[in-house]
Amino acid sequence: MNIAVAQSGGPTCAINASLAGVYNQAEKLNEIEKIYGSFNGIEGIINDNLTDLSGRLKSSEDIELLIRTPSAALGSCRRKLPEYAADSSVYQVITECFRRYEIGIFFYIGGNDSMDTVAKLSRYFEENKIDIRVIGIPKTIDNDLCGTDHCPGFGSAAKYVAATVQEITRDSNVYSKPSVTIVETMGRHAGWLTAASGCMRMNGESAPHLIYLPEHTFCGKRFLSDVTDMMKRHKAVIAAVSEGVRTSDGRFAAEDYQSCKKDAFGHAYLSGIGKYLENLVSDRIGCKVRSIELNVMQRCSSHFASLTDIEEAQEIGAAAVRFGLEGKSGCMMSFRRVSSAPYRCEIVSVPAEEAANSECFFPMEWINDSGNDITADALEYLMPLIQGELNPIMKNGMPQHFIV
Ligand code: F6P
Repeated sequence: MNIAVAQSGGPTCAINASLAGVYNQAEKLNEIEKIYGSFNGIEGIINDNLTDLSGRLKSSEDIELLIRTPSAALGSCRRKLPEYAADSSVYQVITECFRRYEIGIFFYIGGNDSMDTVAKLSRYFEENKIDIRVIGIPKTIDNDLCGTDHCPGFGSAAKYVAATVQEITRDSNVYSKPSVTIVETMGRHAGWLTAASGCMRMNGESAPHLIYLPEHTFCGKRFLSDVTDMMKRHKAVIAAVSEGVRTSDGRFAAEDYQSCKKDAFGHAYLSGIGKYLENLVSDRIGCKVRSIELNVMQRCSSHFASLTDIEEAQEIGAAAVRFGLEGKSGCMMSFRRVSSAPYRCEIVSVPAEEAANSECFFPMEWINDSGNDITADALEYLMPLIQGELNPIMKNGMPQHFIV
């Protein structure tokens, strides 16, 4: 049989490592003939925009570069399939494409919304007795997929956030004047990535002095009083704030600063909380204040990727191929943590439905009572995920990337 693989949702710096994992494993197996890559996720299948990956990944050097390249080499999409009971036309187009290319298994590397596609497609194939399997491979910097201990892409983003906040802390401390620095991180409704800033404390740092996650109600007044308190103890106060923090009425705290535009899955485009809080501190406290939005850097900085993350991303991609050949469909590959010290995970599979359209939030018991910090248990969970470094392959003093 032939297989197809696609990438979907927000990119990460490990999503190409999972693509490499699928490719390397499939290449070794006699049962699989051609490995097709679909451009821009499911849109490539709908629009017949596929490529034979063996024509693109020509050498082991190409694969090594792919593993180290951030973003989605095949491009991505945020496309929601309709319920097929309401409209099956797109499902027919997808089936025709798979038949044309003799695809027996489709691998979809993505987050919660992509698992919605895996669940819907596999159900359609099963109910219509079409012998095509669909397997989801998790990825997201948000780490918010249910059914898995953690998600490929998160460990590297977490490492970047912690190391960057540490560097920002050094910079913020150079002057004798007091200052406040607010670092805004991604993560939408889940605070995993913001919490990861706390990893720097394992090296004896006191920063970030304040950490605000979307899981705990945010209050501007309380934020100002937290900052004022911290200024008594620290010359340069560092606060890590998630883009998705909400006030008690359920509104995003920075809603007036945000575009409020939504993607195909109805998710609002966030960002803006840093600027909002910067203005608040400037108006009410009046000290030197700066906000830093880590923006896409936290999901595309592959020069500081976590080796654990990149290796696991390849392993889970390879395992997906094995599970697919064993006959699995409608599932998402997942990590089950066996122990944190020493760190060990097993790869299993869970129904894609479990991850589709739901979110795994940062545990409330890992947030302190004041809602402005994380606990030691959170660090025990996070630390193994950021271990090790994968050095870039350099050329002319710059990391080299693989471009399809
Ligand atoms: O899904 C991951 C994510 O990076 C979120 O953390 C962030 O809010 C969102 O994607 C940004 O969306 P886009 O990639 O469409 O700008």
